[in-house]
Amino acid sequence: MAKNVLSSSLLMAAMVLSLWAASARGHNITAILDGFPDYSVYNSYMSQTKVADEVNSRETVTCLVLPNAAMSALAAKHSLAAIKNALRLLVLLDYFDPQKLHDISQGTTLTTTLYQTTGNAPGNLGFVNITNVRGGRVAFGPASPGSKLASVYTKSVRQIPYNISVLEISAPIIFPGLLDAPTAAGSNLTALLEKAGCKTFAALLVSTGLLKNLQPAMDKGLTLFAPNDEAFKADGVPNLNSLSSADLVTLLQYHVLLSYTPKESLKSADHPISTMATGSSGKFDLTVSSQGDDVTLHTGVDSSRVANTVLDDTPVSVLTIDSVLLPIELFGHGPAPAPAPSSLPPSPLPSTPAPAPAAKSAKAPSPLPLSPPAPPTSSPVDSPQAASDKADDKNSSAAAEMVRSIATLMAFASAALWMLVV
Ligand SMILES: *[C@@H]1O[C@H](CO)[C@@H](O)[C@H](O)[C@H]1NC(C)=O
Ligand SMILES: *[C@@H]1O[C@H](CO)[C@@H](O)[C@H](O)[C@H]1NC(C)=O
Ligand SMILES: *[C@@H]1O[C@H](CO)[C@@H](O)[C@H](O)[C@H]1NC(C)=O
Ligand SMILES: *[C@@H]1O[C@H](CO)[C@@H](O)[C@H](O)[C@H]1NC(C)=O
Ligand SMILES: *[C@@H]1O[C@H](CO)[C@@H](O)[C@H](O)[C@H]1NC(C)=O
Repeated sequence: MAKNVLSSSLLMAAMVLSLWAASARGHNITAILDGFPDYSVYNSYMSQTKVADEVNSRETVTCLVLPNAAMSALAAKHSLAAIKNALRLLVLLDYFDPQKLHDISQGTTLTTTLYQTTGNAPGNLGFVNITNVRGGRVAFGPASPGSKLASVYTKSVRQIPYNISVLEISAPIIFPGLLDAPTAAGSNLTALLEKAGCKTFAALLVSTGLLKNLQPAMDKGLTLFAPNDEAFKADGVPNLNSLSSADLVTLLQYHVLLSYTPKESLKSADHPISTMATGSSGKFDLTVSSQGDDVTLHTGVDSSRVANTVLDDTPVSVLTIDSVLLPIELFGHGPAPAPAPSSLPPSPLPSTPAPAPAAKSAKAPSPLPLSPPAPPTSSPVDSPQAASDKADDKNSSAAAEMVRSIATLMAFASAALWMLVV
């Protein structure tokens, strides 16, 4: 009986989830291009570089796609970091169908692209020049004055008014420097972090030996959240010298994901993300909230804005952050978590926010500032996990696992229902 109730609520949650996924996403560029083998190379690079995620998160876009020969020629000579930049410059943040292309007032315009949103575009180079040229043709080029318009519109691929338009062009749009992105292979990670104002973090990665252990991940998928030097001096950050060396390594590993997760993909993380510290001694996960182009990471103790992208070369992403991320497993509870669903097993933990009795280091960490509450969809998920992790270091029972997954699903389901109603 109870089992039936459980499975039907699971089913219900899954249905609501998929509905929610369908309604939240207006379009899926990968699915659109799947129907066009002529663009399979372009489509594959859109997925590998995760520019597809960026396209899907925008409400109004025009993708300028390259046929296989042109895309292969571009890809043959450049790193994925460079290809990512080139692809972003081909995503216009406006809706252009063939008619609108031909009706540009005064016959020429500059329009903004995804590349502009990276914050790395010098001057107006995140824009693209669209110009009506002789013979009723439409040409594209870099925004810098006097640039050659070397790419032309060849045909319409697909339009979903006024959300997404897909147009074929003859060649990539390239300005000098666009393809000079730093690459994971060609860069010294330490030097890159130092240059980005993260000397302390870089030094810790070296002195603890963790940097060496990251090397294998650089081929498989790696994301670093590098706190800047000011972050380590902030109030509330525990004295690192007071941590045992094992805890220090854990703290650093908490700033590492063993997956390629650039800033834009963090936005679409709709569940807690595991870090390199995740394992037998605890969850050590992070939740993410975002608003527009701002992304914030929440630990349950504190939170940090994601500042800049230092390196984005698939599969390696290095992002700077404003605060040191303090895992709840080492630094105790933040504010009292939101009330958990009533079906949860009783927790042996004190209900008031207090420094963690279980902190493994000899000296108790200094009191921490309370962090803002985590976003509503994730807090109900956090609390049962954190609670049962603390409850024992041994296995949680299968039943607790089940309750946790249901709590997770129900949290999403209620968020989804809420979104549908609004
Ligand atoms: C266009 O996007 C809006 C907002 O994302 C969405 O509500 C609408 O259903 C989309 N239209 C189509 C035809 O997909
Ligand atoms: C988009 O479509 C592709 C292939 O059709 C699919 O694998 C992927 O999961 C879809 N992405 C989203 C976010 O729905
Ligand atoms: C676009 O480029 C052409 C050729 O360089 C130039 O004549 C035109 O002024 C540019 N358009 C804009 C809006 O800058
Ligand atoms: C990387 O840079 C750091 C600091 O700038 C330097 O100490 C180190 O020797 C460099 N490593 C390599 C392999 O060049
Ligand atoms: C943990 O779970 C696994 C598989 O569910 C089981 O084999 C193991 O004995 C459990 N360990 C403890 C300490 O309960």
